Amino acid sequence: MQTKKPKQIEPHIPVLLNEVLATLKPQNGDTYLDLTAGYGGHASEILAKTNTFTDSVLVDRDINAIAHLKDKFVSKDVKIVKNDFYNAALNLISEGKKFNLILADLGVSSPHLDRANRGFSIAMDGLLDMRMDQSQSLSADTIVNSYDVKAIAKILKEYGEEPKAYKIAQLIVDNRPIKTTHELANIVARAWPGHSRVHPATRTFQALRIAVNDELHLLEMSLSLWVQLLAPEGRLSVISFHSLEDRIVKRFFKDNSDSYDADLVSITHKPVMAGPIELVINPRARSAKLRAVAKIKNKG
Ligand SMILES: C[S@@+](CC[C@H](N)C(=O)[O-])C[C@H]1O[C@@H](n2cnc3c(N)ncnc32)[C@H](O)[C@@H]1O
Repeated sequence: MQTKKPKQIEPHIPVLLNEVLATLKPQNGDTYLDLTAGYGGHASEILAKTNTFTDSVLVDRDINAIAHLKDKFVSKDVKIVKNDFYNAALNLISEGKKFNLILADLGVSSPHLDRANRGFSIAMDGLLDMRMDQSQSLSADTIVNSYDVKAIAKILKEYGEEPKAYKIAQLIVDNRPIKTTHELANIVARAWPGHSRVHPATRTFQALRIAVNDELHLLEMSLSLWVQLLAPEGRLSVISFHSLEDRIVKRFFKDNSDSYDADLVSITHKPVMAGPIELVINPRARSAKLRAVAKIKNKG
């Protein structure tokens, strides 16, 4: 008797799944590029509708996500690529690839936040790390323990919109070495005495994470490449999780869909956000904003 493989427990709940399906409208035969495939939640639903595994590509820069994807799609002939979405897009362009559907669900996955040893979490103590790609050398430890006050303050201001950026940067430098997420969170909290609903280190953690993973810069450089990868009438959906990211996506989509010779047409006139039922099931969908565009027919 054949033993059935136990169903994998999914470590990440895909956000705005119905909304992604409604904007991408996957049809049988469509090719799919997932630029942040993570744990394959969106990908498995989309591929179940397109049935096009060959010629579809799943990208992520995290080796744990890649291992999960390889296991999940073991019987399917889908290409799984460990790379960042900028370099992956450059490679696909040079191979002459085009896709009917492209998704970028930006930011971190639940395992990044839920596993203390990834060093992203204020709630769980772990060594300061925050690298999505575990093979890169720059980590949160490098920034916290070796950058000067000015450089740390710039990161906290630009990527965390932290009003006390300079004060926190000085506290960090004065209290080095700082090795764990709890140590850092407690030091930052000294800049914000009293109680607040959100932990006072939230902005600092966001800023460090963005800097470590070069998130905004990679997004800015990648959007035009993703449009190049769209087939005529192909659809691109992007989910962002904070205002800095959303601003980049919003501006790019507007600039490229507003004029008479534009390549794109907007599908979502306002950002789409999670409804109350999704928020009960998955509070992490709280800040997710989905924007989508389609490529104009004669702009292959
Ligand atoms: C929100 S999760 C995606 C979850 C996925 N949609 C799912 O349903 O499981 C974001 C993923 O994007 C990956 N990621 C973030 N920035 C990336 C980049 N620049 N290049 C490649 N992958 C990236 C992260 O490693 C993470 O696995």
